[in-house]
Amino acid sequence: MKLTAEQISSNFEKFYNNINEYISDPRREKLIDFYTKFGERIIMMPASHKKEYHNAFPGGYVDHVNRVVDAALEINEIWKKFGAEQNYTIEELVFSAINHDLGKMGDSEHESYIPQTDQWRKDKLGEDYMHNKQIAFASVPDRGLFLLQEHDIKYTFNEMVAIQTHDGLYDPANDKYLKSYMPETKPRTSLPFILHQADMMAARVEFEKEWLPKFKGENGLDKSKENFTLNGNKKQATKNKALGSIKSEGLKNMLDKL
Ligand SMILES: [Fe+2]
Repeated sequence: MKLTAEQISSNFEKFYNNINEYISDPRREKLIDFYTKFGERIIMMPASHKKEYHNAFPGGYVDHVNRVVDAALEINEIWKKFGAEQNYTIEELVFSAINHDLGKMGDSEHESYIPQTDQWRKDKLGEDYMHNKQIAFASVPDRGLFLLQEHDIKYTFNEMVAIQTHDGLYDPANDKYLKSYMPETKPRTSLPFILHQADMMAARVEFEKEWLPKFKGENGLDKSKENFTLNGNKKQATKNKALGSIKSEGLKNMLDKL
């Protein structure tokens, strides 16, 4: 699966609009500054580095985050309808959704996911990206929270717990928050569960979009490899028009392969 340059561009516009609509100053301004500073990286980032995961294509990150924001707002309405205590704000919900996967960006200096250099892995395994070994290990939530504080963007206690636990029980590190049998140590808001449900649903839908069409082909797999790598079509003119402001050489190389 791949996004057109126009889709990538309009997704990024929607990403900014969510910040402007739901986040109040001074955090709104700081977030806009942050995402403008790292805009060239964020706009083209995949949501994951392997096709077997989700949205592992240029622009996949922002596409995923926007879907999680939309889903979180909708799912929140269902929780409200069923009586969930409203002891958190919509700003906290959206802030957590916008920044839940920020740690995937890497650190201030280095990107987490860089184009795969091993042609065999690219051709045979469909891995268009690989992890950047220049970055020391940190979990995605830890790195995201570090990036926020590094850029003087404050987050509330509710937001910290929601971002930290957004993978739910898929991440054993969350057991201490989510598997407690003592009432006093359970989360005090439903935010972590709402964000996790939104993230899980978005990732599932992204998986279905990517893979279910491939299973409909001969022998259960699509014969076309067009969508398996970045070397698909070459709509250079349209692409350049929509993303002409990209300065990074690395991104330009990646765009050339779109
Ligand atoms: Fe996510």
